[in-house]
Amino acid sequence: MSTTTARHPRRTRAPRPYRLDVHLGAAGALDSLADDVREGLSATPKFMLPKYLYDAVGSDLYEQITDLPEYYQARTELGILQREMPGVVERLAPTELVELGSGSSRKTRVILDAMDAAGLLRRYLPVDVCPPALLDAAGMLAEAYPGLRVHAVAGDFERHLDKVPARPPAGRRLVAFLGGTIGNLAPDHRDAFMRHLAGLLGPGDALLMGMDIVGGDPERIRRAYDDAAGVTAEFNRNILRVINRELAADFAPEAWDHRAVWRRTLERVEMRLRAREPMRVHIGALGMEVTFEEGEELVTELCCKFRRETAEALYARAGLELTEWHTDELGHFAVSVAVRPER
Ligand SMILES: C[S@@+](CC[C@H](N)C(=O)[O-])C[C@H]1O[C@@H](n2cnc3c(N)ncnc32)[C@H](O)[C@@H]1O
Repeated sequence: MSTTTARHPRRTRAPRPYRLDVHLGAAGALDSLADDVREGLSATPKFMLPKYLYDAVGSDLYEQITDLPEYYQARTELGILQREMPGVVERLAPTELVELGSGSSRKTRVILDAMDAAGLLRRYLPVDVCPPALLDAAGMLAEAYPGLRVHAVAGDFERHLDKVPARPPAGRRLVAFLGGTIGNLAPDHRDAFMRHLAGLLGPGDALLMGMDIVGGDPERIRRAYDDAAGVTAEFNRNILRVINRELAADFAPEAWDHRAVWRRTLERVEMRLRAREPMRVHIGALGMEVTFEEGEELVTELCCKFRRETAEALYARAGLELTEWHTDELGHFAVSVAVRPER
């Protein structure tokens, strides 16, 4: 772990300091990458974990995705936050915000604005696996909110939640988990993750979570991951570039077709890469050769969809109580609030 006081490089005025703790591997790559790639490429069907999509290039591509017409999730969640955050903040009175998978923190400003307007805003703790995205966001927010203490944590929210600084003895904590990112976790890992997440909350603290909802036309949901401009396809292929760079592999990204598949019974979209021809890939750092048949698919991301009942049950299993469920008018996306009961 290294601790630095980073300064944002692009400002002309004296930049405001913020703190960045780094819990990722020495080269900036996640130290779990080698084990995860070995496991995923030895499995049937083969898979990769979506957290490896987000190096600096992947994070930029994701930002572009959030502006695409097909990707209704980002603008819908933003609209719900704009409508609901003043009331949520009034009811919960949080003095600090922890955000998991914070990325660019663009939507976060709506939450911080509501806390600021209520005179409550003290500290912001973004947690993300992509240090460049964190640096940009932390610098921008430290400058936008004078008096706000920004303490960023570069780490894996599935492994490093114990590195998030302790909650303040006085005041309340709100944890935000936006963008439908909960849906990217494998269902059999979700409960354990939620129990760890609940450990960040003291009695009376709350979790604010954005969730994509099942319902209506599945093709609308599928197309959100298969845009006409091909940005999501580039984002998807980026995982092969990350593995090439970090593990000395020789994937040919352009020989893989992007696929987004709606799995009706599992209520999720799967992002996949399909081999256009038979391939033999060498992964130098693992001493591993992997063969792919023509048409074989590699699952790179699960995008699971929720219903109010499944969200409520998920919270209950983690000892949390669903107290608010806000959707857009079309019922495409939900922002929910769950609290840790005070007893
Ligand atoms: C779907 S994007 C959402 C970004 C942002 N919260 C939003 O709503 O626009 C997922 C974010 O979580 C981060 N992320 C993914 N897996 C992660 C992990 N295991 N640990 C920490 N951050 C992770 C990515 O770097 C990315 O910023």
